[in-house]
Amino acid sequence: MLPGKRILLIISGGIAAYKSLDLIRHLREHGAFVRCIVTESATQFVTPLSVSALSGDKVYRDLFSLTDEAEMGHIQLSRDADLVVVAPATANILAKMAQGVGDDLATTTLLATDKDIMVAPAMNVRMWEHPATQNNISILKSREVIFIGPTEGKMACGEFGEGRMAEPAGISDAIDDYFHAYAPLAGRHAIVTSGPTHEAIDPVRYIANRSSGKQGHAIASALAARGARTTLVTGPTHEPNPAGVKIVRIESAQDMLNAVLASLPADMAICAAAVADWRPEKIDDRKMKKRDHTTAASLNILENPDILRTLADSADRRPHLVVGFAAETNDIIENAVTKRDYKGCDWIIANDVSSGTNTFGSDENKVHFITENVIEDWPLLAKTGVADRLVDRITEHFKTFARAAE
Ligand code: PMT
Repeated sequence: MLPGKRILLIISGGIAAYKSLDLIRHLREHGAFVRCIVTESATQFVTPLSVSALSGDKVYRDLFSLTDEAEMGHIQLSRDADLVVVAPATANILAKMAQGVGDDLATTTLLATDKDIMVAPAMNVRMWEHPATQNNISILKSREVIFIGPTEGKMACGEFGEGRMAEPAGISDAIDDYFHAYAPLAGRHAIVTSGPTHEAIDPVRYIANRSSGKQGHAIASALAARGARTTLVTGPTHEPNPAGVKIVRIESAQDMLNAVLASLPADMAICAAAVADWRPEKIDDRKMKKRDHTTAASLNILENPDILRTLADSADRRPHLVVGFAAETNDIIENAVTKRDYKGCDWIIANDVSSGTNTFGSDENKVHFITENVIEDWPLLAKTGVADRLVDRITEHFKTFARAAE
């Protein structure tokens, strides 16, 4: 299943292009978002209108279209995807990929992408067997391009042999396998905390804060998109559930701690929740009366458990990577550096939540990324952008860790 996965499908010009329409249908039925680029020669076999109708999105075809570049430049097209799939991949586009030619939107996007590329070749058997094509294939394989097919069978030209594009259901299964096995964080479990907590005073009132859950939810979504099995433990929010993520809804800090501990073991924990630091000692089971001043005055406050610190400190069950957030109103970096030490986490993301910044609840965030040795100021980004950058760092971290373990 591919819920929420973003596939950039490049359709190049071969007779098998008609099968790509079925591939789009399969991928969407499995929950993927499919964005398509068609080459000029592909439009001889399938119309952009049918591709657009099936993908439910605009179709991109022109490198020099002012409107397309303004809306979604080719760099952005290539970066927005979780996986780039070329189906059908003609001998021509494979040759251009091998040689690094970028002479149209499809090939320029392939050059600009930082995501994995999967190709489903389709061509006449002699073209497939030609030493030039085989040489290009070796080059692409050495760059870790993933090949699906081709298969053997009767061809449109009447010949028989290897060169038929794999069936759409097979390509869709291969994409599914990719996200389970090859995606950079496949096989890793991530726990993300998000949103506020509500600390009940009585059945009507509670202590809370202004967190919307946007930042935490965006991180969970980005982790799932890179293949991590993701558990999102979230306080009360109005944010939609991120696709492909296990959601655990909680109310209080104590509930959040219990849910997080129950979700262990995990390879990483990212604590973006704004957990209430305090809770009333006793929850009244009846609505407290305003006139009862003695009850109001006796609202004893206790400190809540610290989830991030508990995780970072849990010797045998500590996730390999523990990341906290620091919500600060002054001396942001200094306070965040101290907080990283005190909480015992590996990285901390500091953000300014002083009045006027609108960090709580807005769609953007300006953060500082802090590790033991590094302090980086990131520009103002969409919260999804902060999530993507953070998950880039997490991906790099686990790649290095896996190499060191080999
Ligand atoms: O939800 P949004 O509207 O999108 O806003 C995002 C955000 C501002 C809430 C988010 O970017 C953020 O900064 N989250 C952390 C908020 C916070 O509680 O910071 P803190 O400095 O008080 O806590 C430091 C760290 O300890 C955080 O990782 C927090 O999750 C964790 N913590 C705090 C207290 C507690 N009892 N348990 C914890 O785990």
